[in-house]
Amino acid sequence: MILVTGATGNLGKATVEFLVKKIPAKDIAVLVRDSNKANDLKALGVEVRVGDYHDKDSLVKAFQGVEKVLLISSNDFNDRLGQQKRAVDAAKEAGVKHLLYTSVSMQNIEKSALKPLMGEHYDTEKYILDSGLTYTFLRDNLYADVIPMFVGEHVLETGINFPAGNGRVPFTLRTEMAEAFANVLSTSGHENKTYEISNVESYSYQDVADALSAHSGKTVAYNDVSVADFSKALAEVGVPEAMIGFSIGFATATKEGDFDIPNNHLEQLLGRKPSSLNQIVSTLY
Ligand SMILES: NC(=O)c1ccc[n+]([C@@H]2O[C@H](COP(=O)([O-])OP(=O)(O)OC[C@H]3O[C@@H](n4cnc5c(N)ncnc54)[C@H](OP(=O)(O)O)[C@@H]3O)[C@@H](O)[C@H]2O)c1
Repeated sequence: MILVTGATGNLGKATVEFLVKKIPAKDIAVLVRDSNKANDLKALGVEVRVGDYHDKDSLVKAFQGVEKVLLISSNDFNDRLGQQKRAVDAAKEAGVKHLLYTSVSMQNIEKSALKPLMGEHYDTEKYILDSGLTYTFLRDNLYADVIPMFVGEHVLETGINFPAGNGRVPFTLRTEMAEAFANVLSTSGHENKTYEISNVESYSYQDVADALSAHSGKTVAYNDVSVADFSKALAEVGVPEAMIGFSIGFATATKEGDFDIPNNHLEQLLGRKPSSLNQIVSTLY
């Protein structure tokens, strides 16, 4: 039995959708917090188990009889490391053989503006290593799917105003990451391996603007605005302070090149090149 956590979320659900095409649905279970959100998963024929990263006993119960767990990192920043440690402890206690964890693919993490947010992924990896469980780290670079959030809803009218300089990111579609995860879960040879899940080349926000221009036929400019102007513009349209700080963190880390580590692991796991920026823009828009 293979169990996927976070299955009501984007990445978990997409992984399960690919996995049911590769192995029988009866060999797949999912962890959800609220079974009312799992009707589409039930329709796939997979077993729905209820548990919460805040409640270790619920996880030990949900992991019974499971050989491999794909632990999707939590999106809840209230004690995220504690939540994930509980999931590791529960996997060990329930006799899970192989724990796969969706970590993050970054460099210079110690100096990164995103250390407070992303450092916990590496702390979780260390905790898994110390647990002695067989592991696979699926270190995800930035989803291409975050581009619309950072460039804004009206990008074709406003252009891109984002303080990321010439920083580059090997943006990757989340569905392609999910497809690769299903390949990893359904095959052997991934024990105690670390994969950097990213595109094979990196793209700047100028590249994103150019791709949007080519796709829309409108000229989309990229303006490397100052952090102060960016912050002021977001505050003026009522964006909450925490969200502004979050966006500045991503812009700064991008500008510093913290995500700029393209890699061919995803290409190998997919058996083809991941979508290029132009294909990504066509998919997202
Ligand atoms: N690489 C990137 O660019 C990037 C971007 C965004 C996020 N991420 C990370 O990647 C993860 C997966 O991305 P995603 O797009 O699939 O996120 P998502 O759609 O927000 O899904 C997160 C999943 O985690 C579940 N979850 C949250 N807290 C939980 C808890 N206490 N116990 C059990 N399950 C819990 C959620 O369940 P509910 O449906 O019940 O809330 C949901 O199924 C995120 O959680 C985040 O850590 C990465």
